[in-house]
Amino acid sequence: QQTPKSIIVIFGATGDLAKRKLFPSIFRLYRENKISEDFAVVGVARREWSNEEFRGNVQKSISNLPTFGKDAEKFASHFHYLPFDVTNIESYQNLNGLLSELDEQYNVPGNRIFYLAMAPEFFGPIASNLKQEGLTATKGWSRLVIEKPFGHDYDSAEELNEQIRHAFDEDQIYRIDHYLGKEMVQNIEVIRFANSMFEALWNNQYISNIQITSSETLGVEDRGRYYESSGALLDMVQNHIMQVVALLAMEPPIKLTPDEIRSEKVKVLRALRSVTAEEVNDYFVRGQYGKGVMDGEEVIGYREENAVDPESNTATFVAGKLMIDNFRWAGVPFYIRTGKRMTEKSTEVVVQFKDLPMNLYRDKSADLQPNLLVIHIQPDEGITLHLNAKKETGGATSTPVKLDYNNSSDKMNTPEAYERLIYDCMLGDATNFTHWDEVALSWKFVDTISEAWSKEKATNFPNYESGSMGPKESDKLLAENGFHWWSVK
Ligand code: BG6
Repeated sequence: QQTPKSIIVIFGATGDLAKRKLFPSIFRLYRENKISEDFAVVGVARREWSNEEFRGNVQKSISNLPTFGKDAEKFASHFHYLPFDVTNIESYQNLNGLLSELDEQYNVPGNRIFYLAMAPEFFGPIASNLKQEGLTATKGWSRLVIEKPFGHDYDSAEELNEQIRHAFDEDQIYRIDHYLGKEMVQNIEVIRFANSMFEALWNNQYISNIQITSSETLGVEDRGRYYESSGALLDMVQNHIMQVVALLAMEPPIKLTPDEIRSEKVKVLRALRSVTAEEVNDYFVRGQYGKGVMDGEEVIGYREENAVDPESNTATFVAGKLMIDNFRWAGVPFYIRTGKRMTEKSTEVVVQFKDLPMNLYRDKSADLQPNLLVIHIQPDEGITLHLNAKKETGGATSTPVKLDYNNSSDKMNTPEAYERLIYDCMLGDATNFTHWDEVALSWKFVDTISEAWSKEKATNFPNYESGSMGPKESDKLLAENGFHWWSVK
């Protein structure tokens, strides 16, 4: 399906996100004919670039895509640049003039996407200036796309939300969580709701625990300044991980519409057992990477990184036990963990089913393992079902076997998360964006933890070596309940 004709305005067009994700995604949509020839992208940022410089940059950003070819120049010709001061009203007036011209030039009926890929402190003022200067008052539609972080706690998020809600309605606001654009995250819903065999077992009678791991090998790179104030809890848990939990735990929606799906996700977040300040360390573990060896190279610890306090209290690793107090999930821990500088780059969900009520193979030297459903989100995309089957030799004993479905055979052509999300936004489908209610509940849950951790200095930091799977306390969190993290390669 081709998207309606529209103009995308990117705030922060000289930045990293635009270069790494947005331009390549728009290019792929263009190549796949999902965007008509009648489209324009306007890049705005502080720098005094010309259209030519901007277009050169756009071309560079797509030059390593496999489909790069003679179209690249034509594609880049749709890009226009405007030097912009977000605090100066005149900038908005200039932009308005340019957008009207481009509407004419490309036959666009006033449809506009304002994509804010820049420092969050400007989200509110930009939104209100856009409205005040009439940029949203066209015959077509206007949509606002917002990158994270959406606030740094509940209060700041609410304040930000109020600011943007003065200018845009909730259904015009597209809050990006790029995990919701990932193929296998979107697949959670299909695996659950298109298979009778899983849905019937998807509850506390048959599932003993669920584990979500999102590990990274990279350290904080050049983002020390941002990361110091966020840490793994705000950077990954509050948004991406909570969204995955909600998708795994939600009730079947009555229809696959954005409102129905979002309202089921909201119910999960409302059912999350809140943790008091005193209980935080019973449910959550924090870690910070020290130095170590990765790929045969020595790497420095977090406290030695650029723009990081040498005594930093920031967690680069978080593990937690989430309890969802509703009928379906009472008693089933959802274990989560995420961190930087871990052994491998991988995101995976493991659903561990309960042991059988009686083990007939116990005395026969059988290696009877619990059934697992593993959802591989990245880098592999697919699912693996761990079962037990008869061992060829040795009579009535069992051996673990795996049923594998690999979704990543055509990686080159599977759309990237950002490509999907930009496409959805152009079509007006907000299913895979976060509603304010989800953001709010997720902040309320996370706030207690971050407050407790900011008050109490972690005396044991750094407490995990670069290249490891995090501090040992993270293993204890599961061991207390008789479980362990599955490493399911
Ligand atoms: C971002 C975080 O939201 O997600 C980064 O800010 C993190 O710190 C990234 O590295 C992980 O995304 P992905 O898609 O590589 O798992």
